[in-house]
Amino acid sequence: MEGPILKFPNKFYWGTATAAFQIEGHPEEYLGKLSDWSEWIDIQGKVQEPSNRGRAVDHYEHLLEDIELIKNLNSNAYRFSFNWARLHRGPGQFDDNTLQFYVSLIDQLKASKIEPFATIIHFVLPSWLAKEGGWENPKTAYEFGQFTKYLAKHFAHKIKFWVTHNEPNIFLNFGYESGIWPPGYSNEWGRYFKAYQGLVLAHQLAYSTIKETNSNAQIGFAQNLYSFESFDSLSDKSKKKWQETHALPNIMRKQLHNYAFIESCLELDALDFLGVNYYTRFSYKLNAQAKDPANPQIDSFLWGELQDLAKHFPDQVKTNSLNWEIYPEGLHKVLTEKKLKNLLENRPIYITENGYSHVENEPGSYAKTNINPNQDFSKDLDDSYRSKFIRDHLLSVHKAINEGVDIRGYFYWSLLDNFEWALGMKPRFGLVHVDHNSFTRTPKTSYHYYAQIAKNNGLRQKSI
Ligand code: FCB
Repeated sequence: MEGPILKFPNKFYWGTATAAFQIEGHPEEYLGKLSDWSEWIDIQGKVQEPSNRGRAVDHYEHLLEDIELIKNLNSNAYRFSFNWARLHRGPGQFDDNTLQFYVSLIDQLKASKIEPFATIIHFVLPSWLAKEGGWENPKTAYEFGQFTKYLAKHFAHKIKFWVTHNEPNIFLNFGYESGIWPPGYSNEWGRYFKAYQGLVLAHQLAYSTIKETNSNAQIGFAQNLYSFESFDSLSDKSKKKWQETHALPNIMRKQLHNYAFIESCLELDALDFLGVNYYTRFSYKLNAQAKDPANPQIDSFLWGELQDLAKHFPDQVKTNSLNWEIYPEGLHKVLTEKKLKNLLENRPIYITENGYSHVENEPGSYAKTNINPNQDFSKDLDDSYRSKFIRDHLLSVHKAINEGVDIRGYFYWSLLDNFEWALGMKPRFGLVHVDHNSFTRTPKTSYHYYAQIAKNNGLRQKSI
């Protein structure tokens, strides 16, 4: 028995999410080094091989095919990002030819009744701004405002949903704390907070600019939320000791990572909805000698010590191929947290990212334990583990909706296998497999599974 279909609310948005630099591969950008990431990719050791040297998955040349894939998925929404570096070449200089690519994308989506969710920046900065201090320099926020004005002029009447920033918290972590992404600073907290301010200012400028052009626009940003939990039991520890060593570092991190940027936008009265990107859970233990997990040669007092759940609890913790714990309950937890509810008041939530990564021939324990023993892990085409991942996370979303959380959409990350930043091309998050040489697209099993969910506006609990 498969059981009845668990329905989602009417007009729920079903979509996928992508980002310009991870898919487009426009030669002008990667050869012309227009962005910080097109330069970063060429610095020895910064990006794992294969990196495809910025060609990503050649979406620029496959636009029509990719739109067909979006349509055949029965999606009624699609999240993409603009390529700031290609569109904005210098103060007051905008590239109208590049704009045509987005005009074409947006018009085709709208003609198929697919709601565009537009992200203004997804991590990547134009080189001319990065060279002058990036987000630490208020000029970047000002230029972001000018860029938004340009976009609003062309699209404010076509695009209702705007995502100003993607994961400012992850950007700051990786750019100013661990230093594994541009601008590459390690534990530079002064810079971190200067850049933080730049991001907030940029958000506010974009918010007011879009509203001036279209007061009905809905504007938010996409926040990465981790489920922070302490793993050690109370067992032989006094409550006080436990709080100090286990609960507090998690509370501290949760505040900075999950909530701080939301609070900043709310203080400026500049948030209509929250985008939630959810992948995994983390646990921290206080340790004055802690090393940054992403960069062990560096002390990281704020992080405390990351507890390696997969190592300590191999029987309980299932991981994807990147060793990220797969923890669907965490999505329910972050969505129903009282603090989030109090902060957002009546603002809706969209799940703007959630996805599963496979690496060929290196399945994580989640995949290994969830499929038949003869599974071929070399291709990631018969990916029933990804379908199960989607189902389990959607059950968490459904539960949260039933408990009163106003969630209005879900965007799977990602439509296509793509360029996964410092990890290069190996991690595959797509519903559609992409051959890295020929760029041939092949829908995976999970693509068809997700298409059914979107068609039915719901799923069966025991569908896999
Ligand atoms: C998120 C990013 C997205 C992608 C996924 C796997 O943090 O927003 O670009 O890299 O992780």
